[in-house]
Amino acid sequence: MFKTFVFLFFFIFFVATAAAEVDIDLTLGEEINEVCAGCHGEYGEGGKNGEYPRLAGLPAAYISAQLKLFKDEKRKNMPMRPYANERELPDEDIPSVAAYLSQIKLTSQMPEFDESITAYEKLLVAKKVFNIPKLEGDIEWGEELYIDDCQLCHGKKGAGKEDSDTPPLTGQYTQYMIKQIKQFAKEERWHEYSEALFAEMEPDEIQAIMAYLSITDD
Ligand code: HEC
Ligand code: HEC
Repeated sequence: MFKTFVFLFFFIFFVATAAAEVDIDLTLGEEINEVCAGCHGEYGEGGKNGEYPRLAGLPAAYISAQLKLFKDEKRKNMPMRPYANERELPDEDIPSVAAYLSQIKLTSQMPEFDESITAYEKLLVAKKVFNIPKLEGDIEWGEELYIDDCQLCHGKKGAGKEDSDTPPLTGQYTQYMIKQIKQFAKEERWHEYSEALFAEMEPDEIQAIMAYLSITDD
């Protein structure tokens, strides 16, 4: 009897602490996003051809990890600096905004509507239609390079891995990613095996991989 009691006590204790650690509040996430929207767009769609990256649909674990890196200034970026500090974005709020952004679904095509839909509803749907501009480059070569060097982690066709800290590469602005790759090459931003992957990468190889990713559906 006592053993069962002790077991139950610890069981409840662990469930309670586990729940406290992942306290996700999507309403709070939505409120926080009003600040982020100034740059990243109302639906996390990003903007200015990738000056502001897309956040919608990225894995929550990846968004959280990046926000912590900005906060600790391990990933240095001036525009993000005022928004990722402890006062503006306390640690316990990070999972909520990450979960909120992660569940936003953007579509690549305007769906077909039946007549009952109002013009306003149509407008709301249209705002979530999002496409990456196609990039010139040798797509076939880009696909080969992608499969050889990137697919293992970033997944088939650049779709990334759900619930992981590895981001998708399709559906992200190519100009933004090219900028990131230059930072990886100079070790200004951390990436696994960056020396082997990026230090010697030629601009036309980067262009080819990005051209392939820009025509690949996520
Ligand atoms: C003043 C503009 C600005 C605001 C406001 C802003 N950001 Fe950013 N954010 C940026 C820029 C610019 C980058 C790209 C940094 C780079 O080029 O490395 C970025 C990058 C990011 C990334 C990395 C994306 C990736 O794919 O690696 C995340 C995550 C992010 N922001 C989340 C947020 C959240 C959450 C908020 C609100 C709390 C926010 N940002 C507010 C400008 C902003
Ligand atoms: C060993 C696994 C692995 C391999 C191989 C790999 N990546 Fe990554 N990549 C990652 C992880 C993990 C991250 C997130 C890094 C971080 O935590 O900041 C990332 C981040 C990125 C980003 C930043 C995306 C963003 O939203 O900011 C780009 C761009 C990228 N990788 C391109 C590539 C390309 C191109 C290749 C192939 C040449 C490649 N990666 C190979 C694991 C990998």
